[in-house]
Amino acid sequence: MFDPDKYIEKKKDELKEIKGRTVVAASGGVDSTVCAFLAHTVVDDLKVVFIDDGLMREGEPEQVSSFFKERGLDITVVNAQKEFFDSLKGITDPEEKRKAFRNTFYTVLGRILKDFKAKYLIQGTIAADIKETKGGIKTQHNVLEQIGIDPKRYGLTIVEPLKDIYKHEVRAVGRALGLPEQLWDRIPFPGPGLACRVIGEVTPERTEVVRKATKITEEELLELKPFQTFAVLLNDKATGMKNGNRIFGNIIAVRCVESKDALTAFPTNVPWKKLEKLRDRILNEIPSVIKVVYDITPKPPSTIEYI
Ligand code: XMP
Repeated sequence: MFDPDKYIEKKKDELKEIKGRTVVAASGGVDSTVCAFLAHTVVDDLKVVFIDDGLMREGEPEQVSSFFKERGLDITVVNAQKEFFDSLKGITDPEEKRKAFRNTFYTVLGRILKDFKAKYLIQGTIAADIKETKGGIKTQHNVLEQIGIDPKRYGLTIVEPLKDIYKHEVRAVGRALGLPEQLWDRIPFPGPGLACRVIGEVTPERTEVVRKATKITEEELLELKPFQTFAVLLNDKATGMKNGNRIFGNIIAVRCVESKDALTAFPTNVPWKKLEKLRDRILNEIPSVIKVVYDITPKPPSTIEYI
């Protein structure tokens, strides 16, 4: 039986060994926030950094930054939006997209460590990320050493305190650390962010469509307490009618799943009325969308994300 308090003590002892300025990369998600709070009490010279890659949900950079500040942790927000969109330009292949994101992510982090004159990077990689990347399912953005990429290539020495536990255990650690439920119970959001949910080329304009649909989806479906729910912008257009005219509009797929460890997942049995309300809101609030579909595939064979 997993004991979060014992785990916290063990990890703190390990983190105490770190001597020298250290950066922790926070995304606002459960994994990296738990890492930051674990390290905060035992690592002397810790800098919390949030990379604004332009692929976050609405209001996220501001929310993450105030969350840390309110709890007495100094956080630096680094705007790298242009760099990320430039690196994703013209890429449609899912794995290429993930690799381009990963490369930009670590290039930016390497630069941040250099600017801060920091020696170490703490990041929130968890066991499922490593398992899926090593298993060849997909390249998770935060896995390097385990697949033979030397972090020194980016000028980094990486510490991964949570690499031996899964999501439900990370949540238990977050709870034991005294973090608020809204944090440790937060639905997972992948490192490459909305880039995982824009099928085809990731442009600022297409990202904005999925950002709006994500906000509506979370507002309507989070109360069902699923493991994860989100919207995806598909790469094709569908024929429809608006104001008596034929248009080719965007297609939004809605995903809502139940899972424990993200290794398997089942679609949530969302009440029809809720789906209808969600559909109406997406169609009314995002004029470029002409079709909304609800995804009923489990994992396997489908993964949770679309890329
Ligand atoms: P899949 O799509 O493989 O996702 O079923 C399993 C879980 O992992 C999340 N995910 C990621 N998390 N970096 C992350 O930090 C990534 O590159 C990444 N890709 C997927 C996904 O949201 C789900 O919870």
